[in-house]
Amino acid sequence: RLLVREERPLAGRKAIVTSGPTHEPIDPVRYIANRSSGKQGHAIAAALARLGAEVTLVSGPVTIPNPVGVRVVHVERAEEMRDAVLAALPADIAVMVAAVADWRVAATAGNKIKKRPGEAPQPLLLAENPDILKTVGHHASRPKLVIGFAAETENVADNGRTKLERKGADYILANDVSPSTGIMGGERNTVKLVGRDGTEDWPEMGKDEVAERLAALIAARLSV
Ligand code: CTP
Ligand code: CA
Repeated sequence: RLLVREERPLAGRKAIVTSGPTHEPIDPVRYIANRSSGKQGHAIAAALARLGAEVTLVSGPVTIPNPVGVRVVHVERAEEMRDAVLAALPADIAVMVAAVADWRVAATAGNKIKKRPGEAPQPLLLAENPDILKTVGHHASRPKLVIGFAAETENVADNGRTKLERKGADYILANDVSPSTGIMGGERNTVKLVGRDGTEDWPEMGKDEVAERLAALIAARLSV
């Protein structure tokens, strides 16, 4: 009995993980996207499931397979991702790893936008997307542990701390995506764990190792 508990310390816990990019449509055939692969978010969903958590993974469009032992909800747009995350509440754990597009196209065209030779193209008008992490971090049924990521190219720890406070998170894994380190879409990550009482530098490691270490930290935090 004790052994089982130690091996699956998150048994009976519910977790929500977001992963991948979002696609924001311009018209029926075009969209705005980013370079997120979903590897880190999917690895975290899998690691939490291995520790016994009941995981809902809300994933934007990715080419990698669904992790085993995880309920996967596939979405395209940030607003759909927000709705799927809120529908999965209440939960004990939320880890928001998705590279949510900061803006969507204000008025999506119903038909393919045609080019008119010789005419200047219409500018794209953008609208701000909902901040899913911030919504969850301040929600009436806020999970006990709310964790975000931050892709930064400079002032990694400072920017991470600012985001932690603004979004009501317990931890931010600040990810150095400057060209000298873990370029987005790669297999490895160099992160700093920014918490309420300090910052911890993690060595460069594989995304699976980042996931294992984060899942262990979550299990330890929820066991006290
Ligand atoms: N995030 C989110 N919803 C958004 C934007 C971001 O849930 N609309 C989450 C991401 O999943 C991540 C964290 O917020 O966990 C930080 O994302 P990031 O893009 O680094 O922060 P922003 O607040 O969007 O700031 P900026 O892009 O200007 O640095
Ligand atoms: Ca952003």
